Amino acid sequence: MVEEYKEHYSVLKKECLDYLYLDSEEHDQLLFADCTFGAGGHSLAIVKRDEKAKLISFDQDPDALKNGRVLIKKNGVEDRLFLHDSNFCHFKDIVMGNHADLVEANGGLNGVLLDLGVSSHHFDEGSRGFSFRVDAPLDMRMDYDNDNIQTAKDIINRYSAQDLANLFRDYGEEKYAWRIAERIVLERDKNGPINTTFQLADLIKDCYPKKLQFGRIHPATKCFQALRIEVNRELDVITDVINQVLPLLKIGGRILIISFHSLEDRIVKKLFKDYEKNGLGEMLFENEVKKPIIPSDEEIAENSRSRSAKLRVLKRVVSKKSKNKYEKFSKIEN
Ligand SMILES: C[S@@+](CC[C@H](N)C(=O)[O-])C[C@H]1O[C@@H](n2cnc3c(N)ncnc32)[C@H](O)[C@@H]1O
Repeated sequence: MVEEYKEHYSVLKKECLDYLYLDSEEHDQLLFADCTFGAGGHSLAIVKRDEKAKLISFDQDPDALKNGRVLIKKNGVEDRLFLHDSNFCHFKDIVMGNHADLVEANGGLNGVLLDLGVSSHHFDEGSRGFSFRVDAPLDMRMDYDNDNIQTAKDIINRYSAQDLANLFRDYGEEKYAWRIAERIVLERDKNGPINTTFQLADLIKDCYPKKLQFGRIHPATKCFQALRIEVNRELDVITDVINQVLPLLKIGGRILIISFHSLEDRIVKKLFKDYEKNGLGEMLFENEVKKPIIPSDEEIAENSRSRSAKLRVLKRVVSKKSKNKYEKFSKIEN
C-alpha cells in the first residue's frame, strides 16, 4: 500500500462533461456512472457540475479507492457519489444490487463513462511493476490485493514459448514476439525465474537489433503493454461492460469510452457499430460522433499521455415502437 496517490490528468474532461450533460436540462434528476474512478478527476467534475447529479463509480485498485474515499469526503459529496470496490465487469450486479431504487426512479442511467486502462499512478508508482523505468517485482495487477489474479511474473515464468509469443504479438503488436518468447524460456530454464521489471526489460532489449535498442521508444514498451492487458484482462472486460451498460441506459442516455490504443478502440468501434446497426432487443442506438474525438494540441502539450486518446459516444435513441422523442421514464430492460 502506498501513502501517496500520484497525480492524474483527466483526459478530454471538458468533452466528456459536455456529452454527459447534453440535454440535461430536460431532466429533473440525473444519474451517471463512472466505471474508472482513478484519481477522481472525471467523477468529481461530473458531480460538481450539477447538484442534482448522482454518480455510481467503480475502481478495482486499492490505492485509487483509498484515495477516492478521502477525496469524496473532502469534497462533501458522500450523499451523491457512491464509489464501489469492484471490477466494472460486474457493472449490472453492482448497480442493480446497490442502486436499483435510483435507477428505477430515474428510468435508467443518463450517462456512463469509461476512461480505459491504467492511471498515471500505476506507471509513476514504480513498486507496482507496470514500468520498466523502475526496478520492481513483476506484478502489474490493478487489483493487487486479489491473489486469484495471476501476476506478470506468473505469466512470464509459466507460459509456454508459443503462448508468450502469441501474447506479445496479439496484445503488443510486437515484431520480435517469437524471438523474445524463446529468450524468456531459455533464460528461465538456464538461470531460474525472471522476477523483476529490469530483468525482463533488459532481456527484451537484448532481442532487438543493436541499432533499435536505444530509440525514442524503449524496446520493452510493447511487451509490457501486452503483459498488463493479459494480467488485467483489459480487452475482455470492455465487451462485458458495454453489454451490461446498454440495457440500463434511459432513452437519450449515452455511453462514453476513452481508449488509448488501437486494440481497445477496435473493440469499442466494432461494438458501437454493431449496436447501431442491430440494436438490442427493442432498444436503438446511434453513434453520436462519426469520428472519434481526440485531444486538442493544447491538451497534448499539457499532458503528453493524452496523445493517443480517442473518445467514442454511443447514444440510446427512441425505440421504433416509441412515439415520443424523449420519454421521460423509459422502461429498463434487464
Ligand atoms: C485511466 S484511469 C482513470 C482516471 C480517471 N478518469 C481520472 O480522471 O482520474 C483508469 C482507472 O480505472 C481503473 N480500472 C481499469 N480497469 C478497470 C476495471 N476493469 N474495473 C475497475 N476499475 C478499472 C484503474 O485502476 C484506474 O484507476
